[in-house]
Parts: sequence; C-alpha cells; structure tokens
Amino acid sequence: MSSPAPTCLLLLAAGAAWEEIALRVIGPGTGVVVVKRCIDLHDLLASATSRQADVAVVAASAEGLDHGAVDHLHRAGVAVVVVAEHARENTVEHGRRAGVDLVLDETQVSDLPDRVRGLRSATGSDDLDAMPTGPVRSRGTAPAVAVWGPTGAPGRTTVALGVAGALAARGQDPLLLDLDPYAGTVAQHLGVLDDVSGLLASSRRLVAGDLTSAFVALQRRGAGMRLLTGLPRADRWTELTHGLAEELLQLGRRQGPVVADLGWCLEEDRAAVHTGRPGRHDLTRDAVAAADVVLVVGTADPIGLTRLVRALAELREQTVVTTPHVVVNRMRRSLGWEPGQVADLLGRCGPLHGISFLPDDRGTLDRAMVAGRGITELGESDLSRGFDALVDAALPGIPAGVKRRRLLRR
Ligand SMILES: Nc1ncnc2c1ncn2[C@@H]1O[C@H](COP(=O)(O)OP(=O)(O)O)[C@@H](O)[C@H]1O
Ligand SMILES: [Mg+2]
Repeated sequence: MSSPAPTCLLLLAAGAAWEEIALRVIGPGTGVVVVKRCIDLHDLLASATSRQADVAVVAASAEGLDHGAVDHLHRAGVAVVVVAEHARENTVEHGRRAGVDLVLDETQVSDLPDRVRGLRSATGSDDLDAMPTGPVRSRGTAPAVAVWGPTGAPGRTTVALGVAGALAARGQDPLLLDLDPYAGTVAQHLGVLDDVSGLLASSRRLVAGDLTSAFVALQRRGAGMRLLTGLPRADRWTELTHGLAEELLQLGRRQGPVVADLGWCLEEDRAAVHTGRPGRHDLTRDAVAAADVVLVVGTADPIGLTRLVRALAELREQTVVTTPHVVVNRMRRSLGWEPGQVADLLGRCGPLHGISFLPDDRGTLDRAMVAGRGITELGESDLSRGFDALVDAALPGIPAGVKRRRLLRR
C-alpha cells in the first residue's frame, strides 16, 4: 500500500525562534517535509515558482509579505500560513486581508504537522491550468511575448511596437506592456498621453488586491493596440511590487496577445534580496520567465552581435523554459555579411526557436515616431514586411489572413 504524498513545506522564519521547534516536530512519519528553508521573501517566491511545495510557513515579521506576494504563492499552488509572535486579532485580520490561508500563534508551532498536513492552496487550484508548466503554457489563452535584448539599445522597444502593430493588423487586439525598469517610452511612441502610469497604478492595485478588476481601466489605446504605460521616471521602479510582471502577463493573455517591452538587464539584484523588496531587474527577469515566447533582440553590427551572443548565454542561465527566438535588427548590406553567415554564428550559441532579420530602416521609423503611429499603420515598408515575417516565424499560431488595418481606432 502506498502512503499519501507528503505535504511539502517552504519555511521562511526570518530568524524567529519558532523555526527550531518547527524543524524538530516535522520529522519522519508526520506526512510533512520541509523542502527548503528560505532566506527571504524573494527566495521563497522563487522557490514556490518551481512548484515543489504545497505550503509556505512564513513569519509575520518577514519583510514584504503583502497581497502581491500571497497571490504569487497561491498561483504557484502554495497555501500560505503565517506564524505571528502573538497572533492577536489585528494580525489575524491583516493576514485575512492579505489573503493568507491560516494564521498561527507561535505557541501553536508544536502542532505544525497536524495543522498543515493536507493543506492546499484553495485559490491556486483554479489557476493551475494557467500556470507555466513548460514551453507551451497557459492553455486556452493568448500568447505572451517578452521582448528582451542586451545593453546598447538594440531595438527592444522598436521590436515590441512592431510586433504588437503586426498583430493588430491581423485583427488581434494586442496589449503592449511597457515594463522597462529604466522608464517607459512606449506611450510617447504611440502618441498616448497618460498622466497616470499604468504600471505604477497596477502595482498599487496588486498590493491592494484588486488588480484583476482594475486591469482593463488602466489600459490606454493608441495605434490600434491596447497599452499599459510605463514608468514616468527611472527612479520610480522602487514603487513596483513583487510578482507584478507575471501577474500582468497572466491577466493580459486572458484578453488577447501580450507583448512586453523589457529592460536589458537580467541580473539578480543581490542587495535587494537582502531587503526582501523586489530588485530593479525583477520586472525583466519575471517577464522573461513567465512569457510563452521570448524574443532576443540584437543589432547586426559586430558589437551588437557580440553582445547578442553573450545575451543568449546569460539567458540560458535563467530559469527560462522557452527556447528564445532571435531578432537580428538593423541588418544592412554595408556590414558585408549575409543572413546565412549571421545565422551560422548564432546557431552555435545553443538551441534557438528561430532567427528573424529586420532591415535597417531609419526613414520609416522616423516617420512613425514623428507621427506617433505604428510602423504597420504607415503602410507597406521593408520594416513592416520584416515584422510580418517575424510574427509568422515566432508566433506561428497567429493567422496571417486578416490584413485588416485598424488605423483610426485611436
Ligand atoms: N530597424 C531599425 N532601423 C533603424 N533604426 C532602428 C531600427 N531599430 C531600432 N532603431 C533605432 O535605434 C534606436 C534604439 O531603438 P529602441 O527600440 O529604442 O532600443 P531599446 O528599446 O533596445 O533601447 C532608436 O532610435 C530606434 O529608432
Ligand atoms: Mg526601450
């Protein structure tokens, strides 16, 4: 006879004395195992994403345990138990508002196995099908595309705008998310004036627990697409909460395809990890990890290609399940090499979903920028054909048939 699967715990005691008791009472034969002792909330959230745990037992004093964090855990199928030093009424009430499943007083930790055995995230189970589980994710919803690329302004924003524009021209209703942690420019490109940053407002709503209901109202419309505007100033990234990028991608793909314009850096911010707050690059890291399609943009010149090769190596070190699709931007004859030669070089950098090329086309981009329009809205050009081919190659599920231009829906 096989015994039931044990309840797997993540512990975040944040230095509280009850951790020792918890570790003592959870032993063989209790039906409960500790899969990890986490150093901070960031570590806990990342560990939960690997989906090896059922329950997170967290000290009430752990920094950053807000609604967004609890929601992230739930979506990973992890129930949340908070242990408070003196679980008075206000702790219980605070926990309830943050959505935690159970609040324990530290004196109850000696019964931890009984209290957590069989506990499962009630809210998470609905969403399990929508959780990332492999290269083909989120069945039944539209794809989320992350547009990333190394430093040196290779054209991430240009590609995000172009891909979203090409999707709009196919009668899709794409949402462009401006997730650049160094301040957004997408709204300006599309001639959208927004006195409230969609991204900052989303973060506040996520913390307050009502992002789902507010999400549509936070979007703007420009150049035939929906847009969530970005940071108004680079220094305001500190106002962004945990799990925001993943949440936005998840909510967005319920409405239609999502394209996220990201920053260049994938580094984990170790200093931030110690504070329990999200790091500056988490927005980029999380979006890349949660996307169904990852486009890696680099320029075709020697420096751009070197950066691109390094970027692909860096990306492989992240917990990304999706095989990247490379976009070689600003391709031009004067560089003296053919697409085949560039493809040979990149092909040696590990598995790729595919490689697409975009021409250097300053004239078309200037016209688009000055008019506050999308490339596709301006009519056919080398660049618009390039974006069409890119969508065909990177998003083969999107039908090419409807070339309906949604020019004037602004
Ligand atoms: N295919 C292209 N042809 C000509 N100029 C381009 C092309 N792609 C991007 N650019 C220009 O390069 C600059 C940087 O592009 P941008 O998309 O803002 O980069 P990133 O978002 O990576 O910082 C912009 O001036 C943009 O117009
Ligand atoms: Mg940019």
